[in-house]
Amino acid sequence: MQAYRAAILRFATDRDPGQAALYEQDGLLVVGPNAQGRQVVQAVGPWHALRARFPELAVTHWPGRIVVPGFVDLHSHYPQTNVIGSPAEGLLPWLENYTFPEEKRFASPDHAAEAAQFFIAELLRQGVTTALTFASSHPASVQAFFSEAQKHRMRLITGLCLMDRHAPPGVLNQPSASADATEQSLLDTEALIQQWHGVERLGYAITPRFVPTCTEAQLRGAGELAARYPQVWIQSHVAENKAEIAWARALFPVSRSYLGTYADFGLLRQRAVYAHCLHFDDDDRTLMRDTGAAAAVCPTSNLFLGSGFFDYAGADRVGFQYGLASDVGGGTSFSPFHTMLAAYYVGREGQTKPGLSLRPQHMWWQHTAGAAQALGLAGVVGNLQPGCEADFVVLNPQATPLLARKTAAAANLDELLFSMIVLGDDRLVEQTVISQAI
Ligand code: GUN
Ligand code: ZN
Repeated sequence: MQAYRAAILRFATDRDPGQAALYEQDGLLVVGPNAQGRQVVQAVGPWHALRARFPELAVTHWPGRIVVPGFVDLHSHYPQTNVIGSPAEGLLPWLENYTFPEEKRFASPDHAAEAAQFFIAELLRQGVTTALTFASSHPASVQAFFSEAQKHRMRLITGLCLMDRHAPPGVLNQPSASADATEQSLLDTEALIQQWHGVERLGYAITPRFVPTCTEAQLRGAGELAARYPQVWIQSHVAENKAEIAWARALFPVSRSYLGTYADFGLLRQRAVYAHCLHFDDDDRTLMRDTGAAAAVCPTSNLFLGSGFFDYAGADRVGFQYGLASDVGGGTSFSPFHTMLAAYYVGREGQTKPGLSLRPQHMWWQHTAGAAQALGLAGVVGNLQPGCEADFVVLNPQATPLLARKTAAAANLDELLFSMIVLGDDRLVEQTVISQAI
């Protein structure tokens, strides 16, 4: 067992997320192995009340520091680190001119291994401990990512990008001697599920890139796998950009909507995470809610590519799940603080006053416990309540002169959290601690 004394942030699970934060100014976090030998939170609360229960424990004291749940990034592309900051008129030219040429390089196991190493190190440096991320269309890119993730014992989820049309040859799934590209991509997906899903904390996500680059046969095969492996995640993109939507509608005109195409192939269910979800109507929102699918809100990406603004009011009115995501490399930053601030800007667009989902506690929740809930991992990661895996971040609110000045002046928890959302970046993250298997 290990014990840490510092200020501690966690979330009550029975309250509105806008007022669910529990904050110990002088707290104690006790961490120890569960029945499976995985380090989890054993106890958490005020130092003065808890200390007597653990008199024999040596305590690591971090005065002036704030321990917070590790951040959960609901959507990114590990092969797109080099694509960050590539300007384009919009999504489709950005994919064609920058993204596809870079992803082509992931046919090389060495390139994929180096990129996976950098990407995961950067997650840790920024305080992200759980991530759902795309690999490229090359099985070697999935192998490289899981191999690197295993070294760090992190809870990371990825999958082979399924794309069998409408992209250059080196970026599409490849045929083999015995199967065409579509069939081979599905065989590879199933083999990778069996090799990696549930190994330690790793998870597999069936990963159709988006409707425009998948044939009907590939979407059908992906849906069949999703039915056969209900614990496996699904990740894709939907309703990000007007030109993309028009293309998706032209390819599957019989579906009720772009989102409806995924439903038609059995790709909407719990543990299905759809990036963007910008241009929805209420029928789409209801479909998200009724199937248990979740939206990955990607504000820095949507602002950078000029895609649009996630409609928080619409999502909350109908009541489907969502959480925050960097969407590197359409997104401009690995930092959860930058993403939370961009979410605030996006949510304020066109609003006369910020809604409940823009409260500081709610935005923090969207990137921790709320994102974990969207993944079906509530009570597992994204929180520091007893039983949660002990992934946490040590923040130093004195990291810069301005942060020190502003956080010291905070009159309450909302002001403290909002100061860090607005001014925070990797300098705030002093240490990222990953739950170990004992
Ligand atoms: N839609 C299909 N592929 C992508 C991608 O790589 N990034 C974003 N932002 N949208 C996509
Ligand atoms: Zn994406």
